[in-house]
Amino acid sequence: MNTLILQPDAPDTVAIAAQIIRDGGLVALPTETVYGLGADGLNPLAVDRIYEAKGRPKDNPMILHVTGMEQVETLCHHIPPCAYALAEAYWPGPLTMILPAREHIPKRTTGGLSTVAVRCPDSVVTRQVIAASATAIAAPSANLSGKPSTTTVQHVLHDHDGKIEAVIDGGACRVGVESTIVDLTETPARLLRPGGVTPAQLREILGDLTVDKAVTAQLGPDEIARAPGMKYRHYAPQCQVVIVAGSREKAAAYIHAHYQNSDRVLCFEEELPLYKNCNPLAYGREADARTLCAGLFAALRELDDPKVRMVYARCPEGEGVSYAVQNRLKKAAAFQIIDAEEWG
Ligand code: TXA
Ligand code: MG
Repeated sequence: MNTLILQPDAPDTVAIAAQIIRDGGLVALPTETVYGLGADGLNPLAVDRIYEAKGRPKDNPMILHVTGMEQVETLCHHIPPCAYALAEAYWPGPLTMILPAREHIPKRTTGGLSTVAVRCPDSVVTRQVIAASATAIAAPSANLSGKPSTTTVQHVLHDHDGKIEAVIDGGACRVGVESTIVDLTETPARLLRPGGVTPAQLREILGDLTVDKAVTAQLGPDEIARAPGMKYRHYAPQCQVVIVAGSREKAAAYIHAHYQNSDRVLCFEEELPLYKNCNPLAYGREADARTLCAGLFAALRELDDPKVRMVYARCPEGEGVSYAVQNRLKKAAAFQIIDAEEWG
């Protein structure tokens, strides 16, 4: 199959993409977070094609992408007032809400759950495609399952060229990490995945918020993941990744003592001078966590190279958007964290 690369401002892009979706095909769509691999979320055969293209475990449900709360009402029931308040504050934007699913949502889409994830993305062309296809578009991150997410059209083609009907080239994704996921089917609401909307922004609307254990720690073998996707190894290059925590100086001392020739250091731009001889790769500025979000997945993809033995990673602290970077990096590192302050 020849994968079409559609330009967002070309006059027939929306019509072509919507027709492919209606016909049960796959279109990779730009969003402000990451590229999604889109298909008709109400057509189980189309959703099956997403699972096949990604190599995704069948129990890992999809997010349905919508144009707003009016469409959510056609997909969900018992929608609490706080869902409307969150949508008013943060949609279109990097926020996904879990709500009770109506009967007609295919089990393929929900992974057999009674709930469904919904999100209104902040990309005009993608919302136009949703409206023109007259359905809700299921779209997981467009990476192959387990790999770092796709934040450019090149990443999408690297993973899916020749396997999907089309991709819309929306340039590099502005936020760079996937949406915040909040489960509104319990009280207080539960944060399942941190993203561009921070815990503080959620608390402004919700008051109380529980942070799910899977956000910060590895679940035990008998623990059930509330977001099924959170139990899988994820975001990871093929080599081992270890986070080195602690002050700049202590971390650099630890890394210099352990560094071998085929290793890489994933660090902040401010730290580059410390790692001149250690093949460093900076993913953003520590002083501006938004740059770290935006650069993280492209960096993890570059490190996904069989010649690399080990990655020593520096991870930002704090509760704002850094929280999303911490979560993705910890998962990429399978929660292997070394405290350089306690070493040597
Ligand atoms: O920013 C994003 O959210 C991107 C863009 C494309 O919109 N999409 C995305 O989808 O990250 P995906 O499939 O890579 O991650 C969705 C996560 C998975 O961990 C999945 O298990 C969880 O959402 N999820 C989906 N439906 C759920 C549900 N009903 N209950 C709990 N978790 C759910
Ligand atoms: Mg994903």
